Amino acid sequence: MRVIVVKDQDALGKASADLVESVMKTKAHFALGLATGTTPIPLYKELIRRNKEEELDFSTTITFNLDEYVGLEPTHDQSYRYFMNAQLFDHININKKCTHVPNGIAQDIEVECLAYEEMMEDVGGVDLQVLGIGSNGHIGFNEPGTSLASRTHMTDLTESTIKDNSRLFDKIDDVPTKAVTMGIGTVLDAENVVLLANGANKAAAVKAAIEGPVSALCPASSLQLHPSTTFVVTEDCASELTVLTEKM
Ligand code: F6R
Repeated sequence: MRVIVVKDQDALGKASADLVESVMKTKAHFALGLATGTTPIPLYKELIRRNKEEELDFSTTITFNLDEYVGLEPTHDQSYRYFMNAQLFDHININKKCTHVPNGIAQDIEVECLAYEEMMEDVGGVDLQVLGIGSNGHIGFNEPGTSLASRTHMTDLTESTIKDNSRLFDKIDDVPTKAVTMGIGTVLDAENVVLLANGANKAAAVKAAIEGPVSALCPASSLQLHPSTTFVVTEDCASELTVLTEKM
């Protein structure tokens, strides 16, 4: 596991874009796993900049998002499909048909989950998965206690996640209580994983993920078992780490 400590959000965007670009350049058809939330926004800004100014080419990239709320239309401004279009897809030369976000309004969510797994398998798996981390250690919507072997599934959001995410909704009662998410086992199948974390409120979760025991109580700790994982964390977020880290 590599841990890169960066000064601020701009540096986080650049360091993670470098990691994405380095894998992308080795693949004729790049399968990129994506996350929503505030943390990856600097990465998406930097990818857009490289697409416009440095001709970083997304025409053969296929994407798979980690998760989506159950019950929100893709046009809802808090749906993850809406977020991805607004933050990335609308600004780069990607074929929208090659961008995948789980369908949270599917009639049969179980069928949707199986189909999502199959789509990833059909392209030979995800080459690089981008992750954020919840203050409770969740990855995707895999909340503490989720099986480390889990696959794409529907799940209940914990109270802490509903509270964290309520900042983006008018009121807490508007936050959906269920989501479809890739499982931890699904995430671990990606060839490379890059976890981004920013802010002092994530310091304890990052310490538990990197230096704590591997445990379903901290889903991100499962990444200790992954052969190619890089954490890119801001200085304030790395404040509780005691192991050797790379500074950039
Ligand atoms: C979103 C996702 C979540 C977030 C996490 C951190 O697709 O998978 O696990 O990465 O909740 O969210 P932010 O970045 O908003 O702090």
